[in-house]
Amino acid sequence: MRAFSFILALLASMSANGTPLSSRTTSPPPTTQIVYQFPNETWLENIAIRQTGQLLVTVLSAPELWQVTLDPKSSQHALNANTNKPLASATLVHRIPDVTGLLGIVEMQQSDVFYVVAGNFSYDTYTSTSGSYSIWKIDMRRPSPHAVASKLTDIPEGVALNGMAALNMSQGLLVVADAGAGVVYTVNVDTGNYSKTIDDPTMKPNSSLAIGINGMKIRDEYLYYTSTAQKLFSRIPIDTTSGTPTGPAEIIATNVFGDDFSLDQAGDAYVAENPWDVVAKVTSGGEVSVVAGNLNSTLVAGATSTAFERTSGDGSVLYVTTSGGIGTPVRIEGGKVVAIYI
Ligand SMILES: *[C@@H]1O[C@H](CO)[C@@H](O)[C@H](O)[C@H]1NC(C)=O
Ligand SMILES: *[C@@H]1O[C@H](CO)[C@@H](O)[C@H](O)[C@H]1NC(C)=O
Ligand SMILES: *[C@@H]1O[C@H](CO)[C@@H](O)[C@H](O)[C@H]1NC(C)=O
Ligand SMILES: *[C@@H]1O[C@H](CO)[C@@H](O)[C@H](O)[C@H]1NC(C)=O
Ligand SMILES: *[C@@H]1O[C@H](CO)[C@@H](O)[C@H](O)[C@H]1NC(C)=O
Ligand SMILES: *[C@@H]1O[C@H](CO)[C@@H](O)[C@H](O)[C@H]1NC(C)=O
Repeated sequence: MRAFSFILALLASMSANGTPLSSRTTSPPPTTQIVYQFPNETWLENIAIRQTGQLLVTVLSAPELWQVTLDPKSSQHALNANTNKPLASATLVHRIPDVTGLLGIVEMQQSDVFYVVAGNFSYDTYTSTSGSYSIWKIDMRRPSPHAVASKLTDIPEGVALNGMAALNMSQGLLVVADAGAGVVYTVNVDTGNYSKTIDDPTMKPNSSLAIGINGMKIRDEYLYYTSTAQKLFSRIPIDTTSGTPTGPAEIIATNVFGDDFSLDQAGDAYVAENPWDVVAKVTSGGEVSVVAGNLNSTLVAGATSTAFERTSGDGSVLYVTTSGGIGTPVRIEGGKVVAIYI
């Protein structure tokens, strides 16, 4: 039994103030479908959708980036939620040397050029090796899966780098969260230069869970973020030419045990609540409801990130990556990509 599993099992049974989780509202179960499942003990960490509609998933349990290609015959409308037929195939895009896993991923600048966080983070113990982190460029503008990978920069000050978001495409700026230090770096992808640009109390980890700011997205000159240990979903106004804050952080919702997330067009967040084995919706007004999963279910066990479908237009398919429930009350299975029809 892993020590951390025990800690999370305790965390999972209660919310921050001791009220049962069931006090949050639960929507009627949506239609869902397993898109692709990896072997047991594969922790999928983050997802980005290519302009081709193919899914790129980072793996934390190995330093690998995989591409998941949906079977063209299985269009959304033809899907039968009860079928077990594979919906997709997966191919290894790239394996990064000298690290144990990959974390955040973001598409930047030219279409089909992605950046990923690489480093040594143990998913068994939730401990990070400070100084092991770097950011890599993955150029997909070649016939897939022959991506061209190159290291952009090491970030030796990084304690536990995690989520990334595009800050300013024309200037080539992205932001990367340091979950271990509770700060945000701004990185120039043209030069590799980077600076610490945000250091806020709402982003800090705590002494028993060393994961603070985790998932990030930028919308309308605000940085939205989950802060895992403090169970916050927050935003802070930022200058999109520098990444520095222009005002105080605002807490949108509390009792959100968030990992990565995505925003829909209305600005509502679909948050992967990894230790609680659910995907939750957090409205811009701060109302929280469970969209899919529960503590007794493998449906989205160990949900780590979400992303809306990009090609078919209506944006109603939400892809979720999972860890397979490692460290949660659910038994371990292979990490998977699940489609939720919102
Ligand atoms: C990260 O892990 C790799 C693979 O185990 C190891 O070779 C490397 O030395 C580690 N890096 C650091 C900074 O500990
Ligand atoms: C990006 O930087 C340019 C200046 O180079 C600025 O005009 C623009 O408003 C910035 N923000 C975004 C979101 O592109
Ligand atoms: C890059 O370096 C300069 C100092 O040479 C600094 O002023 C700037 O803020 C740095 N950061 C980024 C993200 O470009
Ligand atoms: C750290 O965060 C976790 C998750 O929110 C919480 O259960 C735990 O009580 C916190 N520990 C401390 C020492 O505040
Ligand atoms: C999980 O199952 C247990 C035992 O059947 C039950 O008491 C509990 O309410 C269930 N929890 C959820 C979140 O469904
Ligand atoms: C996955 O591996 C874990 C740990 O080795 C084991 O407990 C679990 O039963 C396995 N699950 C499946 C579905 O094989």
